[in-house]
Amino acid sequence: MSPSKTGKLADCIASQQKTVIFTGAGISTESGIPDFRSPGGIWDQFDPEEMTYQNFMADEKNRRKYWAFHHQSWRNIRDARPNPAHRAVRQLEDHCDISAVITQNIDGLHRKAGTDPERLLELHGTMWRADCLSCGETHPCEQAFDQIDSGISVPRCPVCEGDLKPGTVAFGEPLPKNVMVRAQKAAVSCEVFIAVGSSLTVYPAAFLPEMAVNAGANVAIINRDPTPLDSMAHLVSHGKAGEILPEVVRHLDEQQRHPRPGC
Ligand code: APR
Repeated sequence: MSPSKTGKLADCIASQQKTVIFTGAGISTESGIPDFRSPGGIWDQFDPEEMTYQNFMADEKNRRKYWAFHHQSWRNIRDARPNPAHRAVRQLEDHCDISAVITQNIDGLHRKAGTDPERLLELHGTMWRADCLSCGETHPCEQAFDQIDSGISVPRCPVCEGDLKPGTVAFGEPLPKNVMVRAQKAAVSCEVFIAVGSSLTVYPAAFLPEMAVNAGANVAIINRDPTPLDSMAHLVSHGKAGEILPEVVRHLDEQQRHPRPGC
């Protein structure tokens, strides 16, 4: 992002305007976690059509596939560390009025970076949790993956022996209602909406920047590649989140030393 663009974005945020940060898989690629739709991404290795909620609920064979899909990325996600982009989001929470950090990601890296859990909305659930389909109990996913490592291909609930499902939202599965309602409220009541590292192609999540624009917010898109929503954004920067967001924070530090008018 050119210095003028990061400066402009920092000016917007610095004027203490209510800001929402919305992230996708692209914010975690610099932590070694592949995204979904870039060349070589997850959907180049697995067929998303097989990872639907209906398939998972249909039979044991599909549940084995769904768990194997999650198991292949578990160690990478478990051991991944937040990168400068996650840390910059955390710092923005200290500098400004960040009303929500809405993420499509299931990797838990915003939590690891210290984002306030009260303002973190995990739209697509999390890889760190497993839910029992029978009794509804929730368990740490590590226990479920330990069962897979010991040869149980569909992990069982330690409480009732029911089948467990990873705490991630599958295609065709409703998003957690309370989370989506809070995300929509944040989108329509903010003044600045910053989308980072998302192709903005998956709904209903991709409705959120549109709702923000329609409610009068300034929308900024920070993404390595162009997105279908670039034309509606007030500010677009194609580049690496791990470089751009820390630059915005540096501008904000400067701004707070020498205040300038907002965006
Ligand atoms: N910095 C900035 N942008 C990046 C970086 C980076 N370091 N690395 C990748 N990107 C961009 C890519 O250009 C791409 O447009 O991040 C975007 C990631 O897009 P997707 O892979 O489609 O991921 P996302 O938008 O989060 O997908 C949404 O789709 O498959 C479902 O549930 C899954 O939550 C996911 C949802």
